[in-house]
Amino acid sequence: MAATTDSSGSKNTSAEAAERTFYVSTPIYYVNDKPHLGHAYTTVAGDVLARWHRQRGEKVWYLTGTDEHGQKIMRTAEAHGVSPQEWCDQLVRDAWKPLWEHLEIANDDFIRTTEDRHTARVQEFVQDLYDKGEIYQGGYEGPYCVGCEEYKAPGDLIDGTGEFEGQKLCPVHRKPVEMLKEENYFFRLSDYGPRLLEFYAANPGFIQPESARNEVLRFVEQGLQDLSISRSTFDWGVPIPWDPEHIIYVWVDALLNYATAVGYGSDPEKFERIFPADVHLVGKDILRFHAVIWPAMLMANGLPLPKRVAANGWLMVGGEKMSKSNLTGISPHQLTEHFGVDAYRYYFLRAIPFGTDGSFSWEDFSARYTSELANDFGNLASRVAAMVGKYFGGVLPAAADSGPAEEQLAVGLARAFAEADDRIGEKLDFSGGIAAIFEFVKQVNGYLTEQEPWKVAKDTSAAGQARLATVLYAAAESLRGIAVLLNPVMPRVSGLLWDSLGAEPVLGALAEQQVARAAGWGLLPAGVTVTKGEILFPRLEERPEA
Ligand code: MSP
Repeated sequence: MAATTDSSGSKNTSAEAAERTFYVSTPIYYVNDKPHLGHAYTTVAGDVLARWHRQRGEKVWYLTGTDEHGQKIMRTAEAHGVSPQEWCDQLVRDAWKPLWEHLEIANDDFIRTTEDRHTARVQEFVQDLYDKGEIYQGGYEGPYCVGCEEYKAPGDLIDGTGEFEGQKLCPVHRKPVEMLKEENYFFRLSDYGPRLLEFYAANPGFIQPESARNEVLRFVEQGLQDLSISRSTFDWGVPIPWDPEHIIYVWVDALLNYATAVGYGSDPEKFERIFPADVHLVGKDILRFHAVIWPAMLMANGLPLPKRVAANGWLMVGGEKMSKSNLTGISPHQLTEHFGVDAYRYYFLRAIPFGTDGSFSWEDFSARYTSELANDFGNLASRVAAMVGKYFGGVLPAAADSGPAEEQLAVGLARAFAEADDRIGEKLDFSGGIAAIFEFVKQVNGYLTEQEPWKVAKDTSAAGQARLATVLYAAAESLRGIAVLLNPVMPRVSGLLWDSLGAEPVLGALAEQQVARAAGWGLLPAGVTVTKGEILFPRLEERPEA
């Protein structure tokens, strides 16, 4: 079998590359309300990761969806006087799916936990565990947070102040917990502590970032308690198959989406090909569910474990996690109206190092938009197109006398690729990867400032014209590389640039360009038609009142 070496130096047999499916998931979101900036943050990150891997030439499966059962959704629906199913249907149809489409999220599937393809398989999974003796009946009493849909350890609670004086609060939602007492079914989670610790030790990259890994290790080392996996005080959920008076705990139901959506129990070929996930993207608030409970559930049923659980930080408002109750009042739509979808996708990933908390501000967004996107990138693209138009009638000239300055550009592009591929594709360091691509944008700007093609153009000798052709070719070729590398982050704008370079007829569709190949030099053939096209990042109008 022929092995190819791409410019990243990694060897892939074409058959291996064809078979492997890179499976990335977002959490499935509670549909008690419309999506906010925090949900969009994780979903955009997953989309960039998925697109990057697609442009590595890999098969990719990007899954997102909605978590529709549980007390939180039920209460919200009741408060609005509709059934929980109606509530979910309406929000998914009118808010969740449209936002992902608007943000150019290219997910391969969208799973809803109320779908039959999910609920039937959840029952089978839980029945299997029961048959294997992993589930037993018992009683439990403890503080429960409906926001988290989780029993809390008394030691994790914080003391309320002000209106909550004298009460114990959930540390995530800062709302009083409720005392719950139930006859439940329990999963023998406590048995899995040692095996989980062994697994973490053997797979040091399983939980990222390092701080998240340490938190999970400490938690598991303290000893795990068995997990209550059923509820009997309300009925909005999947019935326990052997005791339908009980419903399955919403988290067990929800976690299984990662299996049911890819054919667990229904399409063995698909399941084999895609499962388990390469990356579960999660907010740090739901890390334990994914890094402790989910792998233990899979171990109990003899299924393979995910390769990585990556926790992102929180978008903060006033020092607290942005949530339904403390929104900035700014919706994703308001930001995209002002800055555009591409800049929106760019901003959050560039401005907040993945894994750490960060705040959004109009000022910071505007500053980055103007300096990085409009000035550094947008102007570069329009200047180069304008000069090819003015000096060569819009036909890209051949590079007649490339020298060290052009070689440096070629090196810069290869470096930008290698760095971005490692950071975005492997380390989920979106900010660092985007910064590496923008280093190259800066380098190309510096190249034009040094070469001064507008001055060279005045030299009408053959040598002068050859130099001018070389400089403009090198600049356009650099933009070709930039369009490919930025496509996962900013697909619309990169597409506009691709069109303006006249690249599609000769090189094919932008999304089909593999990042490793695009890092090469001299791929855009002379003779293509370069046009000025739409301005990539128009000047911002006055900031609307927030
Ligand atoms: N339904 C569960 C997840 C089940 S996954 C099997 C849930 N839903 S959620 O809607 O409350 O939040 C899900 C995720 O949204 C968070 O883990 C996080 O990835 C994202 N975010 C929600 N608020 C966020 C911020 N303020 N900041 C960053 N991400 C945020 O938990």
